[in-house]
Amino acid sequence: MAMLVAEGVEKSFGGVHAVNGCSFSVEEGSITALIGPNGAGKSTMFAMIAGFLAPDRGSIRFRDREIGGLRAHEVARQGIARTFQIPHEFAGMTARENLLVVPAGQAGENLLTSLFRHGRVRREEERLRHRADEVLEFLGLTHVADELASQLSGGQKKLLELGKAMMTGARLILLDEPGAGVNPTLLRKLAEDIRRLNEEQGITFCIIEHDLDLVSRLCNPVLVLAEGRLLAQGTMAEVTADPEVKEAYLGEAHVPSHE
Ligand SMILES: Nc1ncnc2c1ncn2[C@@H]1O[C@H](COP(=O)(O)OP(=O)(O)OP(=O)(O)O)[C@@H](O)[C@H]1O
Ligand SMILES: [Mg+2]
Repeated sequence: MAMLVAEGVEKSFGGVHAVNGCSFSVEEGSITALIGPNGAGKSTMFAMIAGFLAPDRGSIRFRDREIGGLRAHEVARQGIARTFQIPHEFAGMTARENLLVVPAGQAGENLLTSLFRHGRVRREEERLRHRADEVLEFLGLTHVADELASQLSGGQKKLLELGKAMMTGARLILLDEPGAGVNPTLLRKLAEDIRRLNEEQGITFCIIEHDLDLVSRLCNPVLVLAEGRLLAQGTMAEVTADPEVKEAYLGEAHVPSHE
């Protein structure tokens, strides 16, 4: 079943058609990749799904509900979380504190209500702290829980970003280049964590990634964006065999090499 459906989405910045008639869908339960050359409009598409930008035209539906043009906190409440191409951690807070300040999404919806209506502040704080510790444990970050986020390695910051998405209770997580700047060991761990969240908790992922090894190991299907629209989709082998995809990548640093 399609969880997310984009249809004819457009977004321009001045004269630049960053997203130009983009249509695709993300199946519930999948780990879907969004690949394509630099400037293809991938991050802009994520920003529109997550409510950071409003589409100029077209529709974005999540579980049959139009979300195009909603604000970021409203999209979060529907159960969508997005991580950034460049991690947005609070440098002056510890790793644990970074998780504790995540705005409540779907799972946290009851939290504020109970905080204010019933005054169960202490218990809710404990619940949140417990959840944060579970997330740190899951990600193997317990040993750096009390370190300042600014002290974490690039890979640990990426894991923390995933942790923030987990804290919201999102059912669809959008990851923008999770592999960038992550060493090979942590990259394997990150991929394993994504797969476990997908298999054990049924979380759907849509992942923008230039590391095509990572994509071929982790993702199916692979959607290829070029010049603001969907160029091809299928398995990694199928899309990399597509002459139009090869053409789109010509002159790019990231040439698909998988057959
Ligand atoms: N805020 C903005 N203002 C002006 N132009 C923008 C803005 N954001 C993106 N663009 C332009 O829109 C196009 C698509 O950018 P986008 O960041 O979505 O590409 P991308 O596919 O994520 O690329 P990359 O793989 O390099 O991250 C590019 O030409 C980019 O320069
Ligand atoms: Mg991008």
